[in-house]
Amino acid sequence: MRSLRADSVSVAFAGLKALSAVDLEIVPGRITGLIGPNGAGKTTLVNVLTGFQAPTGGAVQLDGASLSGLKPFQVRRRGIARTFQGGRLFRDLPVIDNLEVTGVGLGLSRRQAVAEAEAMLRWMGIADLGSRIAGTLPYTDERRVAIGRALMGRPAFVLLDEPAAGMSGPEASELSALIRRIAADLGCGVLLIEHNVGLVLGLCEHIVVLDSGAVIEEGPPAAIRASEKVRHAYMGTAADAPVPVEALEIAP
Ligand SMILES: Nc1ncnc2c1ncn2[C@@H]1O[C@H](COP(=O)(O)OP(=O)(O)O)[C@@H](O)[C@H]1O
Ligand SMILES: [Mg+2]
Repeated sequence: MRSLRADSVSVAFAGLKALSAVDLEIVPGRITGLIGPNGAGKTTLVNVLTGFQAPTGGAVQLDGASLSGLKPFQVRRRGIARTFQGGRLFRDLPVIDNLEVTGVGLGLSRRQAVAEAEAMLRWMGIADLGSRIAGTLPYTDERRVAIGRALMGRPAFVLLDEPAAGMSGPEASELSALIRRIAADLGCGVLLIEHNVGLVLGLCEHIVVLDSGAVIEEGPPAAIRASEKVRHAYMGTAADAPVPVEALEIAP
C-alpha cells in the first residue's frame, strides 16, 4: 500500500522548535486528522510534507523513498497536493483557469487540462462557478475551488490546511461530505487540519494532536475525546480557541 510519512521530522526557526521529532503517516482512502492549538506546528508539518520547508531533522518518505531536496512542484508531480490556509487562488483569473494552470503545470496539454478542470468542477458540483473570476467569489466557494485545484492530476495524497475556516455550520457539513468523497471515491489519502475539532472527530478514523511542535496524543476519535492531555492543550488557549474545547465535550 502507498504511504506518505513524516519520519521523526523536526524544524527549528532561529531557536524556536516548531516541530520536534514528529511521526505521521497518511495512507490512501483514509482521512487522518491533525489538530492542535494555534502555533502547534500544523502548517509547518504540511510545508515539510509538500517540499515548502526543509526539515532540520528527519525526513519525508513517499512509499518508503525519501523526498528530501525536492522542490514543491516536484513533490506535487509525485502526487502530493495541498491547499493553503489563505486559499491562494489566482484572483484575477476565472475559476476554470485556476484549475487549468495547475493541470498544465503538471504536464497536461491545455486541452487535457481544460477537460480535466471541467470534469473536476462537475464532480464537485460547482460547474456553475467555472467562468467566475476567482477573486470575486465568496470565501466558502473560494475554499472549494482551492480544493478542486489541489485535486487536479488526481494526487494520491491531499493535505487540507483549515479548509472549513470561516464556514457556517451547514457549509462545514457540506465540506465534510466532500472530504469524505475525496477519500472514498477518489481514493486519496487525506490529511485534514482543522480548528473545528468537531468536524475532525466526525470525519477521521485516526487523529494526531500536536502541541508546541510535538505529538501529544494520537488515536481514534474516542481516545482523543477522552484524552486529558488534549483537553489540557486546548484549555491552555481557551481564550482563542473556545470552539475546540466545546467540541471535545460532544458525546461519541
Ligand atoms: N517561517 C517561519 N519563521 C519563523 N517562525 C515560524 C515560521 N513559520 C512558522 N513559525 C512559527 O512556528 C510555530 C508553528 O507555526 P505553524 O506551523 O504555523 O502553527 P499552526 O499551523 O499549528 O498554527 C509558531 O510558533 C510560528 O510562529
Ligand atoms: Mg496553520
